[in-house]
Amino acid sequence: MMPGSSAPAEITAAAALLRAGELVAFPTETVYGLGADARNPLAVRRIFAAKGRPADHPLIVHLAPTVDPAQALSAWAIVDERARLLVRACWPGPLTVVLPRAEGVLDEVTGGLATVGLRMPSHPVAQALLTTFGDGVAAPSANRFGRVSPTTAAHVRAELGDELRVLDGGPCQVGVESTIVDLSGALPAILRPGAVTAEQVQALLGPLAPSSTTRAPGTLEGHYAPHTSLRLSTDPQAEAEALRARGLRVAILPAGDPADHARRLYAELRRLDGLQVDVLVAEPAADEGLGRAINDRLRRAARGAEG
Ligand code: TXA
Ligand code: MG
Repeated sequence: MMPGSSAPAEITAAAALLRAGELVAFPTETVYGLGADARNPLAVRRIFAAKGRPADHPLIVHLAPTVDPAQALSAWAIVDERARLLVRACWPGPLTVVLPRAEGVLDEVTGGLATVGLRMPSHPVAQALLTTFGDGVAAPSANRFGRVSPTTAAHVRAELGDELRVLDGGPCQVGVESTIVDLSGALPAILRPGAVTAEQVQALLGPLAPSSTTRAPGTLEGHYAPHTSLRLSTDPQAEAEALRARGLRVAILPAGDPADHARRLYAELRRLDGLQVDVLVAEPAADEGLGRAINDRLRRAARGAEG
């Protein structure tokens, strides 16, 4: 079958695996996810085992598309007007909202927190899977813990092996993980920057909590890391020259149009990581809009690759 397509029979089979408590990797517009039935504690625990991820890190529940996205929230969370406004504007799309969880949401999903993260993806293959399955799917990015998120089906297989069922939806169009907006406090807080920008959220909801005070649980400083050491430089050519003068082999990851930069970021980190150079030099994006999400991932990759 052609890459980028997923036949109805494959979707049906994948939904059946989810019902049986098995894991399925699937494409979203941001990155590929590793999904399990969000109502089945044993299935959710399999995610942590497959990723090598600590069990207290909360997962995002993915929801099937609905005519009114706000309506889909109430089975999972205690919903307020801000949440309704935000998801009606941004769903389906690269946005996760964190809300006080409804009764019955599993501790395995929330990492024992009183809140739950929810997202309605726009990728047609994700939507087909979620609709056919008929309930929420808990899914982190489909990579080993701490590593770069996968943006193609081949990346998922390289991370998690050939045994896993992977739906192929082609390369992800956004390329970095969803924006996470925490609506459980007095002011909306951006826990992770993404393609839905702080500017957009602020235009919809008003003032945001200062970003220095907020961080998603389980987003460690050294996340999204390639194996090769990575440095940031606003003049990557000069930096590369200086490093080469010291006898090091160097590859450069240049900036560019932010949407394009984000889309190819993780694939490029993987490719450059495979070149067996000593150092990757990455050029940061302008620190606004989607550029903030790119720089957030680059900074974490730089820290994670040092250790
Ligand atoms: O774009 C995405 O969000 C991708 C695709 C697959 O949907 N998923 C993703 O999942 O990036 P993951 O597990 O790699 O990152 C989820 C982030 C974690 O940093 C976690 O701490 C945060 O979401 N999160 C989930 N539930 C939360 C909650 N209740 N409170 C605060 N943060 C939460
Ligand atoms: Mg992840």
